[in-house]
Amino acid sequence: MAEPERWQVSTDAAEVYESCFVPAIFAAWAGPVADAAGIRTGNKVLDVGCGTGVLARAALGRVGPEGRVVGLDLNEGMLAVAARSEPRIEWRRGDAASLPFKDASFDVVASQFALMFFPDRVACLRQMWRTLAPGGRLAVAVWAPLDRARGYQMLVDIAARQCGREAAGVLAAPFVLGDQARLAALFAAAGIRGAEIALHEGTVRFPSVKELVRVEVKGSPLAGMLSDDAMEKLAAESERALAEFVVSSGEIVMPLDAHIVTANKR
Ligand SMILES: C[S@@+](CC[C@H](N)C(=O)[O-])C[C@H]1O[C@@H](n2cnc3c(N)ncnc32)[C@H](O)[C@@H]1O
Repeated sequence: MAEPERWQVSTDAAEVYESCFVPAIFAAWAGPVADAAGIRTGNKVLDVGCGTGVLARAALGRVGPEGRVVGLDLNEGMLAVAARSEPRIEWRRGDAASLPFKDASFDVVASQFALMFFPDRVACLRQMWRTLAPGGRLAVAVWAPLDRARGYQMLVDIAARQCGREAAGVLAAPFVLGDQARLAALFAAAGIRGAEIALHEGTVRFPSVKELVRVEVKGSPLAGMLSDDAMEKLAAESERALAEFVVSSGEIVMPLDAHIVTANKR
């Protein structure tokens, strides 16, 4: 896989992502990230690494008819699903490392759970800062460390045993920016002064352990990596190990915390 194309999924996986991953994990963060970004009526907002567009849609609800929302992503499958969901948003295909916008184009630049997949994170943060207007605000969400997501830590360990290190690496990759000091250093290296990092607690909720495993595989780059047999083994061991997170309705509810980094441009 070419470097700028990490965490890429097929159109089928993008459908699974929108119908299963987004309600289970990502939708709950769109409000807090939009709040942290301070999006107001009439703002011009850019969502970088927008995926199927859950944050961009939250932004649209806040900017109203006077505003403008652009969602940018590298993945055509994600953008196709996004475009069907909300035609009033401008969906652009592009690389976060070379944003196709003039300097100071936006009042708000926001991004949730994408920075960890950008190969040159400093370059991407520089681009976000460049396209932000003076007086504008940046908000970037990344997952907190794996030790604040115990169920996922267990899933990563099971995947390493049942499916090999590469598969475990895909499951662990989203947590790579969990360390606050490292995260702060990235923003400083991009020339972003006064960035503040706030830790937010959250949870994920899937209908069952089986569904969690299915979605984690079918809605992610694991879709092209695991055989049905490997997936069965992953599901069987997960069913036993993750039983402690299953609530009386049969759903699985696990902790998953995030850092939201914000900065104001002067
Ligand atoms: C885990 S998804 C998050 C999507 C969305 N922000 C959400 O909250 O549902 C990460 C996204 O980053 C995108 N991505 C990865 N590398 C990229 C790059 N270099 N430029 C733009 N988008 C990229 C992927 O295509 C994917 O849609």
